[in-house]
Amino acid sequence: MKEIVVSGIRSTGNLHLGNYFGAMKNFLKMQHDYQCFFFIADYHSLTTHPTPADLHNNVKQVLVEYLACGLDPEAATLYVQSDLPEIAELYLLLNMNAYVGELERCTSFKEKIRKQPDNINAGLLTYPTLMAADILIHRAQKVPVGKDQEQHLEMARTFGNRFNRIYACELFPEPYAFNYGTSLVKIPGLDGSGKMGKSEGEGNAIFLADEPDVIRKKVMRAVTDAGPTQLQQEKPDVIKNLFLLMEAVSAPDTIAHFDDQYNAMTIRYGDLKKQLAEDVILFTAPLREKIKELSGDDAFIHKVAAHGAEKARESARKTVAEARHAIGIRHF
Ligand code: TRP
Repeated sequence: MKEIVVSGIRSTGNLHLGNYFGAMKNFLKMQHDYQCFFFIADYHSLTTHPTPADLHNNVKQVLVEYLACGLDPEAATLYVQSDLPEIAELYLLLNMNAYVGELERCTSFKEKIRKQPDNINAGLLTYPTLMAADILIHRAQKVPVGKDQEQHLEMARTFGNRFNRIYACELFPEPYAFNYGTSLVKIPGLDGSGKMGKSEGEGNAIFLADEPDVIRKKVMRAVTDAGPTQLQQEKPDVIKNLFLLMEAVSAPDTIAHFDDQYNAMTIRYGDLKKQLAEDVILFTAPLREKIKELSGDDAFIHKVAAHGAEKARESARKTVAEARHAIGIRHF
């Protein structure tokens, strides 16, 4: 039996190059080696009150982009969270043993109420319970998420263990963070603020769905400095960033060419950026095409979502049935 992996994908925000070389590369490898459940976390996004049209379009866009990148709905189980009412039921059951105090102490809760002080809803408070339900519903032990989700995972372990203890069962194993990527390429953003996607500034990230002229504009506006002042000098971060991006999308001799020019102090950043923009456009072309093709194929998207939901519900139903039984919810 392959080990079970669960990961939730935020339903807002298009994929950018950083996501592509990060989480996506990981998912693409994992899907063949583990029993993977990947879902679009649309229930979670309700905490911010999206409009119905935005919600629907965002979920579709995320699904389309993940498929375009090569997630294989046969290899992995790919579904929309809200297609599994079992998750909502497990969330309810877990909430009965989740304490307000521990939920209030959660770092992400504190951060979110700072961001939306006018909308501190119970969904925000119980976000970690919902996330625990997402993971425990398939009794997964491996969760490919970054450091920012560590506390949520810890709470998922707490809630699972607590359930097992209260109801004297061994229903839920402990889920842990899981990093499959051997050498992940870190893609910097274009505004000099660090990782791509880290800042929400316009123009920091290059999205897979961006059209060529948008990519050109963003790259041409990337932050640089006044240029090297000494031969062979070390590059400051903003310049290193441009070279890192090149390493992801450009040919080795292109990189060597501009590196030599930098070292000789003859570099013109405008030329480097022009070349970089064209290389990004070339690299993303097949993804952009595929995204367009899938966006227009509602029948296929429907089929993928329905198939994923059906596969996911098999394991979800079993878990909820066992949880209900353990609690004492039994049919007469
Ligand atoms: N909280 C995660 C994020 O913000 C998304 C998520 C929701 C998730 N449910 C999950 C991740 C279950 C892993 C497992 O990125």
